[in-house]
Amino acid sequence: MSEDERATTGRQHGGDIDPERQLAALREIRTVGDPVLREQAKPVVAFDRALKDLSRRMIRIMHDAPGIGLAAPQIGVTRRVIVYDLERPVTLVNPEICSESAETEVMDEGCLSVPEAAVAVERPARIRVRARDLRGHELEYDAEDLEARVIQHELDHLNGILILERTSREERARALRGLRRHEPAGTAF
Ligand code: NI
Repeated sequence: MSEDERATTGRQHGGDIDPERQLAALREIRTVGDPVLREQAKPVVAFDRALKDLSRRMIRIMHDAPGIGLAAPQIGVTRRVIVYDLERPVTLVNPEICSESAETEVMDEGCLSVPEAAVAVERPARIRVRARDLRGHELEYDAEDLEARVIQHELDHLNGILILERTSREERARALRGLRRHEPAGTAF
């Protein structure tokens, strides 16, 4: 299955979107122009109940929105926590990229915080990620294709970076025109 097929066969375009839940989720997501999206998120130090609650809430909002990934700053929490779901929900706490491939790939990315826009973003095709799980245990693994992409996209959110800064001036201008016309976006992270 190609990356694009995988992107469009996920929950994203599933027929089970509940409009009320979707609206409630979208209301919780901060969008471009909100200063919280430009902040550097702080590392998590306590692996406690509040962290588990945050993860659960983020996964619910991501599923309802729907998107394939979400970072805590997108719901106004400036902590280094990301979630994504390609086959099953994953929570990464204090994620870091330890290495990345020289080879890059270009794919259209949407973002729940940049509604109605999808822009071409070039990123390393493969990465090695290190993070903690909800219990504070260290994780380290290799990711490629869409998984590598969603992790890099969410990690950008932790550093205050949006897809608009990861694309060409032309793509950015096109996306902003699309914002005004309310064109449908592709896969949203
Ligand atoms: Ni995003």
